[in-house]
Parts: sequence; C-alpha cells; structure tokens
Amino acid sequence: MTPAIRPLIAGNWKMHGTSSSLPELKAVASGFTNAAGEGAEGVVCVPATLLGRAGEILAASPVAAGGQDCHPAPNGAHTGDIAAEMLADCGARYVIVGHSERRTDHHESDADVASKAEAAWRAGLIAIICVGETKAQREAGDTLSVLSGQIAGSVPAGATAGNTVIAYEPVWAIGTGLTPTPEDVAKAHAHLRAELKKKLGDEANAMRILYGGSVKPSNAAELLSLLNVDGALIGGASLVAADFLAIASAVKSK
Ligand code: PGA
Repeated sequence: MTPAIRPLIAGNWKMHGTSSSLPELKAVASGFTNAAGEGAEGVVCVPATLLGRAGEILAASPVAAGGQDCHPAPNGAHTGDIAAEMLADCGARYVIVGHSERRTDHHESDADVASKAEAAWRAGLIAIICVGETKAQREAGDTLSVLSGQIAGSVPAGATAGNTVIAYEPVWAIGTGLTPTPEDVAKAHAHLRAELKKKLGDEANAMRILYGGSVKPSNAAELLSLLNVDGALIGGASLVAADFLAIASAVKSK
C-alpha cells in the first residue's frame, strides 16, 4: 500500500443478488471494522435493484453502498438506464464506471467512461474508474501503453483524490482465478501512479489505486502489501461476507 493513503476494500456484486443476499451485507457491515481496522474504508457495489435496501443496511456502518454503472445524463428518455443522481438518492456514495464487462458488453469507450465519471461527481458520488489490459494486449507486450491510453481517455481532468478511485483490473484475471505476478502488479500500479501524476500533478499522490481480478483471502495479503496498491476491487469473493471480511483483514496488519 502507499503510506498515508486510506485503503479501500470494494466489493462488486455484478449481476448477483436478491433479497436473500441482504444478510451477507449485514454481516459485512457489522464485521468490517473488526476485520480491517479503523483506518480502512469499505464499499459494496450492489445491483441497482438492491441499492435502496443496501443504502439503509449500510447507512450507519463503515461500509458505503455503491452502484455498478450510471448514465452520463441526470435524467431523460433512456429506458433501462440509471442516472448517478438516482444512485445517490438510494444511498450510494460510490459508483463503478468503465468496468471491463461494460466496456465489452456495452461497447463503452474511454470517452463514455469519462462522461460517466463526470456524472458521478455531479451527483456527489465517488467514481471508481476501471482500467486494464486484455490477454491479447498483455501477450503483445502492450500492457503499459494500454493503461496509459485508458488513463488519458477515461479519467477527466477534474479528477481528485476525493472524487475518484482507480481500479486496475487485468481483463484476463477477472473471474478466472488467475492473477499477475506481484512484480507485474507493482509495475502496473507504479505506471498508473506516474500517468496520473502527469495528468493531475501532486493530487495523484493521494489517489487510491485498487487492484482487482481474482482477489481472494489466500492472495489478498500479498497483493495489498505492494507499493501503490491501495485496496482491492473484489468480484466473486465479495458475495460471501466471510471471504470479503477475510480480504479486508489483510489491510489491518499493513
Ligand atoms: P473477480 O472480479 O474478483 O470475480 O475476479 C473482479 C471484478 O470484476 O471487479
């Protein structure tokens, strides 16, 4: 982790969860401080259908509620879409934008992601902007240049350490059980910090850069010990409170 940065342990439930999953959220809320210590923050990004109830469950806890995507506009004729203001109204404090599953499934470009980040800020939300290379890009040796391009295109100039979190998620590591070596993660995060500094100046020193992609209790301590890894974005393992809390406990000893 980076000295003086408050770590963030973020869960991404993706398209999982119904009312029957809410007890997991209650367990996360009540166990988080004990697991992670006072110095860490948590957020669980639930499906929009659960956000209102998640907002209530998490309201008085050290864990925030978050959305998984937002539309750039505050309202309008966009059937099925959700405005950042609506997420905030349901109790969200964060929203993920530019997750690779959205970049792939919904053909979201860097410019789309940047306008969603600005929409998040307009609504008072913290944007978690996701970047990461595909397997083919990694094999071609293009990882760092892909990350440079995504930072240039997806992170708006108004980004601050307070309104934005970056999540580095190699696409090939998501949901596969595969992770890059610690050296590769450290290299990618150092590169992201340097690119953010070029763009945002000293503000970038305090910005949280999360690692995501097959984070689990067994690898969390190693990943979170790396310089410039300021927390984790957790998919599959965030669905089970015990696993999410076990990952969160990896920041306590740091
Ligand atoms: P995973 O997903 O932890 O299941 O690999 C991470 C993510 O996509 O945010």
